[in-house]
Amino acid sequence: MNYKRFEPEFIQLSVVDSTNNYAANLIKATKVANGTAILTDIQSSGKGQRGNSWQSVSGESLTMSVIVYPELSGDQAYFLYIVSALAVRKTLEDLKVDAQIKWPNDLVVDGEKIGGILIENQVAGQYIKSAIIGIGVNLNQADFPDDLKASSVKLHNGTGAEPLDVFYQVHRYLDFYLDHLMNGRTELLLNHYYRHLYLLDVVATFKDREGLFKGVIKGIDQRGLLKIDKNGKLVKYDLKEISLIQE
Ligand code: BTN
Repeated sequence: MNYKRFEPEFIQLSVVDSTNNYAANLIKATKVANGTAILTDIQSSGKGQRGNSWQSVSGESLTMSVIVYPELSGDQAYFLYIVSALAVRKTLEDLKVDAQIKWPNDLVVDGEKIGGILIENQVAGQYIKSAIIGIGVNLNQADFPDDLKASSVKLHNGTGAEPLDVFYQVHRYLDFYLDHLMNGRTELLLNHYYRHLYLLDVVATFKDREGLFKGVIKGIDQRGLLKIDKNGKLVKYDLKEISLIQE
């Protein structure tokens, strides 16, 4: 194994379109160290999952990306979202916020979203050449429109948090969990993931291409697909195929 732990390479920006785009341009232009991390105050076109945009407010949000060179094949890529979600969850726990992981890697408290992760992989053949792990966390916002179903660290711990402190802590835990992954401790990571998985073994309402249904999340399969018990049958979904209906 050639995998090496993170190096403390930090790039701090005031404004950028998206830290994920900045990271992508950086690795196109030059070879950077594993764990190179970018933090910005403001993102003008932050990207979210499913082609959505990601809104954040200067000083009130964490907006960061980390460049990693995991030694993983493409079908193991979902382990990157497991380690990233665990790293952010642990950081939130240190801030006295007890968040759960909503599959695949949203961070929620009482069902309200507090953070999100967007991972963009650069693939060569069957292998992941590099990955950009983009992380956004609501830190100091005091309120959100009701229909957004969002929350912040401040609304849960009363004090909020400094983006720079949270940036270093997420980086530290990402290094820690990724190292476990690179050393083959996948069972341990999966156990942690399941311990914190939102709605595991709970009846909830979902929507798939056939419409609304009541189902129960049973876990993820060996490609990272979500397994849901739908009327007694185990059905597997990828991110585009299923949504949770919040009631
Ligand atoms: C989601 O939940 O939809 C994913 C949100 C990911 C947002 C972060 S903010 C830093 C990084 N740069 C981006 O453009 N997106 C990610």
